[in-house]
Parts: sequence; C-alpha cells; structure tokens
Amino acid sequence: MSNIESVLHENRVFEPSAEFVKQANISGMSAYKALCEEADQDYEAFWARLARDNLLWHKPFDKTLDESNPPFFKWFHDGELNASYNCLDRHLNTQPNKVAIIFEADDGTVTRITYKQLYHRVCQFANGLKSLGIKPGDRVVIYMPMSIEAVAAMQACARIGATHSVVFGGFSAKSLQDRIGDAGAVAVLTADGQMRGGKEIPLKPVVDEAIAMGGCDSVKHMVVYKRTGSNIKMQDERDVWLSDLVQNQLDVCEPVWVNAEHPLFILYTSGSTGKPKGVQHSTAGYLLHAILTMKWTFDFKGSDVFWCTADVGWVTGHTYIAYGPLAVGATQVVFEGVPTYPKPDRFWKLINEFGVTVFYTAPTAIRSLIKLGADLPKNYDLSSLRLLGTVGEPINPEAWIWYYETVGGKRCPIVDTWWQTETGGHLITPLPGAIPMKPGSCTMPLPGIMCDVVDETGESVEKGSGGILVIKKPWPAMIRTIWGDPERFKKTYYPEDFQGKYYLAGDGASRDLDGYFWIMGRIDDVLNVSGHRLGTMEIESALVAHDLVAEAAVVGRPHDVKGEAVIAFVVLKGDRPTGEESKEIAKTLRDWVGKDIGAIAKPEEIRFGDNLPKTRSGKIMRRLLRAIAKGEEITQDVSTLENPQILDQLKETV
Ligand code: PRX
Repeated sequence: MSNIESVLHENRVFEPSAEFVKQANISGMSAYKALCEEADQDYEAFWARLARDNLLWHKPFDKTLDESNPPFFKWFHDGELNASYNCLDRHLNTQPNKVAIIFEADDGTVTRITYKQLYHRVCQFANGLKSLGIKPGDRVVIYMPMSIEAVAAMQACARIGATHSVVFGGFSAKSLQDRIGDAGAVAVLTADGQMRGGKEIPLKPVVDEAIAMGGCDSVKHMVVYKRTGSNIKMQDERDVWLSDLVQNQLDVCEPVWVNAEHPLFILYTSGSTGKPKGVQHSTAGYLLHAILTMKWTFDFKGSDVFWCTADVGWVTGHTYIAYGPLAVGATQVVFEGVPTYPKPDRFWKLINEFGVTVFYTAPTAIRSLIKLGADLPKNYDLSSLRLLGTVGEPINPEAWIWYYETVGGKRCPIVDTWWQTETGGHLITPLPGAIPMKPGSCTMPLPGIMCDVVDETGESVEKGSGGILVIKKPWPAMIRTIWGDPERFKKTYYPEDFQGKYYLAGDGASRDLDGYFWIMGRIDDVLNVSGHRLGTMEIESALVAHDLVAEAAVVGRPHDVKGEAVIAFVVLKGDRPTGEESKEIAKTLRDWVGKDIGAIAKPEEIRFGDNLPKTRSGKIMRRLLRAIAKGEEITQDVSTLENPQILDQLKETV
C-alpha cells in the first residue's frame, strides 16, 4: 500500500455535465443520498422494494434476508423465478423485434439477433439439453468462444435450472480438468475452435485432453458448436453437434421455476492457495444486482447500444453480457476478436459502426491502445458515446484522462467500477449523473452497500488513511459459498480477525478526506495481470510440478500496460543454470506454465538461484523478492535471513 500518499494527491475533480445529470436515472447527489438513506433506514425493506420492482417472480417472496446461519446468508428465499424468463420472455410482448445482440466475428462478419429470435434459440438449446437428460441442479461446463451461442448456452442452462460454470477459452486442458472435476459437471458445451486475431485456436481438442487426464467421469455429454469448421474427432455416444441437437427441438420451452437461492452459476477464480475457488452465485440476488447496476451505473436507456468488451469466461462477461443487458432489454455488441486485429483501431471502428453509446472495458486495454495508437480514435466518429466505464484494476490518472478526452470527447462520464467475481456486480463506482469523478478513484459505494476501510482489528480508519476494504452487511448479489468447500468460504471471506462479521474483499483501500475510496491492490497472494486474477501459489504449484524444479516463488511487479507482471524465482534440482542454458530452461518453464494454467499465467521473467531468501525458520521472504523484482535497493533489515548472499544471485536477470 505504498502509493497511498501519491493517489491522495490526485485532486482533479470532474463534475458530470448538466446535460448528463438532467437525463440520468439517478440524477444528482441528492437522488443518490436519498437512496442511501432509504437503505440506512430499513435495509431489508430497501432491497425488498427493489427486488419486487425489478424482477419478475413466479412465486413472490415474503422473507427478504435470512441471517440465521451467518455467513451463509439467504435473500428472498421463499420466492421462485427463472433468470432466463427474466432476460427473454419479459420482452416478448413489448419489444420482440428489437435487436438483442449485434455480434461481430473476428473477421468482421456481423450477425444481428432480435429478442424473439434469441428467445427461440435459447428455448431450442434448452430443449436439446433436456433431451440429453440434463436436469435442474446439474452442473454444465461451458468452454466456448465469444458468440451468440455462448450467451444462448448460459441462458439455456438457466432456463432448465442447470448451474453453468463457464471456463475462459484461454485456460489450459489442466485448468479445465480441475474445474470440470471440482464442479462434477455432467456435460461440457464447447466449440470446435475459436478465432482470435486471425488465428484459429482449438477448443474441443482441449476438452478431449482435459477429459483424458482423468477425474472427469461425471461428464456424459459434449455439445459442440461448429465455429471454425476444422476437422475434429467426435466420440460416438458422448459428443453431439449443437446443430444436430437442436434441429428438431421445439422453439418454446417452459422455464423451470427455481428458488431464489438456486445456484445460477459457479465461476472459478484464483485465491491465495493453489486451488481455484468455485464462486457460487444465487439466481434472484445476483440478477437483481445485474439489473440495478445496468440502470444505476450504466444509466441504461432503451435507446442505448451497450458494449462490454469482456469475455463471457470472466464475471464481467456474465453480469454485463449474458445477464444484465438482456434483463433490461438492451441492444448490445458482442465481439469475438481482439482490439488490435487487424489494426489497433478495432474498438473505435466498432463504436463508430454500431453507434455504441455505453462502452465498458479494462484499463489494461486502454493502456495498450494508447501505446499502439493514441491518435487512432480521432479517425472515427465516436459522438454516439455518452458514457464510458472501466473494470478489473485501478486505472492510472494518465490513462483516465486520455480515455476521458480522446475517446469520450470530454463529454462522457467515466464509471470506474470496483467489484469482484464474488460480489456479483459493481459495488463501488461513481453514479454517472450524481457523483463527481476523480481520476483513479472508484469514488463511492452504491446505495445499500456498506463498504468501509478498517485496520487489522476491524476498527474504521480515519478519512485520509489506508487499510483493509470490508463490507459490513450482506448484500443480495454476494457469493453464497465456495462450491463444495463451505469452510473455505467462511475462512476466506468472514475471517475470525473481524469476529466473522465483515466480508473481507482482499483489497487494500484508502479513503480521502471527501470520503472517496481508492483501491490500493490485493492484500493477499493474488496478482492482477491485465485485469486477470491469478494466484501466486497456482503458478508456483505449476512450476514445482516440472521435473527440473525444486522450489519456486512468484511475485508481481508493476507493469505499465498489464498493471502487474508475473516474476518467478526458481531453484532447480540440479545446478543453477547460467548463460544460454538458463535462457532455454526459462523458456521451457514459461511454456510449461502456459500449458498447465493458460497463456495469461506465463511468467514475464524467471530468475534462478541456488536457494530462495528465507528466514531461519524457513519462511520465504517475499517482500525481498518483490523489491528485487522491481530492481529496488534492499533497504530492509536482512539480519533474520538465513542466506543473505542469495540476494545478489537473484538480482541477475536471465
Ligand atoms: O483487486 C480488485 C481488482 O480486481 C479484483 C477482482 O478481480 P476479479 O474477481 O477477477 O473481478 C474482476 C472484474 C470485476 C479486486 O479484488 N479490481 C476490480 N475492479 C477494480 C479493481 N481494482 C481497482 N479498481 C477497480 N475498478
């Protein structure tokens, strides 16, 4: 948390324009404060009102919050609904012919699908899944490219009450195997391959490899969407083409009404141990938050063209592609490709072409696009934009200002949304027509979200200083448990340190004198590389699983585009390599990590030592490793080190 001082000196304030305020769903500070007060006065009544106003219930709920078994909170739990019904059927009478998704493929091919067409597509998909015997509560892994079919797959699962678990297409066979096994999935929905930046990347072969590794006996079916048309092997009995599965299915499918608490999905994310956590979300609370934040944060209007550039493999793609935009009846852009192909103007070109009004992306994408062509937006008409957003990591003020001026033409508010896989949707963000923005700050919590910054004992810190970010009351969209590991859920998020009372976000934060929140980064062993969350222990486990490696420690180093880069310190079983040999081994190990976890986890740099810096009790001193990785002088006391001479060795780069 060393940069608290510097961020607190950022005192430029950007007020939303009068024009924006006038039309905003939450218009002005007083409207924001009124909602906060409503929540303060009667927390449950506040959420109950919103849940009644925003969700379509098959069976209305009477009970709002059940706190009888903390921290396993339940919301609206005697109510029944269906998420897919809330996203699709609700629009059939009012706007059947409105375009739901404008899909642009990697090669520029555009496909539009209306709400009515999407509804029928989802129904056929759902009937297809039912014909395979998939039942409510079954887990279905989705390993698909960005496509209308991926969104339809998630909606189809929701329609029949199956719990989906989407795995990002960039994850390796091994990561997929872990997730399939942990979730006990009965089916995998995939594609032959995906296209990214003009290159074909196989998917189905990766699923085959994952299943061949063992531990996936639960999988009885694989449904394959033909995307690339490449030659792949299908296994009789188990594998079916999506087109064959749906061709004779009815295009209507009665939704399965589920309890409000029914697990809509599990999404794996990294934690501070080697094993990823299956974050389990509910149906009603989660969907409510997706809808509210579409309206509050994104100021959604029926005329908007919304574009969230995330992949459906991450939580952002769940809440702000697969559920939120559909539930409010938006027209949204779904993009298969990458921002730099064929040229680094792809985002600006698409905004221009489709008249995007609300654009939501990651700071890492903004920084890399500044690097590759800061002037490129000027070649396009971006005047349709009215609101910009960022997610996933802190945005540095320079990138913020560029985004604000060059992309948003100084006219669009920027919502810097702080949230997590576990929180379901935005928790701290400027409301664009209410809260003045400060570049780099996610500003204020949403109404009804009781955020605070506390010290190690759980006491609130004074404004102007830093500490640990906590949430003091349960909220409807929060994580319900870690799939199959309720103890880990409790320990991780409701630790004894705070008497199990507060949700621990795992981030450090500070509040400035105006009460604005500034996120200072993770306080656990989790890295944020290009907005992707990676556990240092996961990467360490991958490294030590290689025959050559005796020991490994992984730390993050600040990176001007990726936010953080992965740096690994490795001790080999044999002698410490030097020269050419060290380069070769470093490459072997990088590829190994890529194969074990996925390309996003490959260390940027690997350094070799005869040992790692350890205390006499054998504990690796990561603080020292972080300093070495950054190339800083070691000013810390190293007298407790067992082997101080190792530090010089580790300063050498390969
Ligand atoms: O450290 C915070 C950072 O991303 C973490 C959550 O990662 P994940 O679960 O993968 O979800 C990412 C998309 C919601 C947080 O603990 N983070 C997320 N948004 C921001 C952020 N850090 C600073 N500012 C943000 N706006």
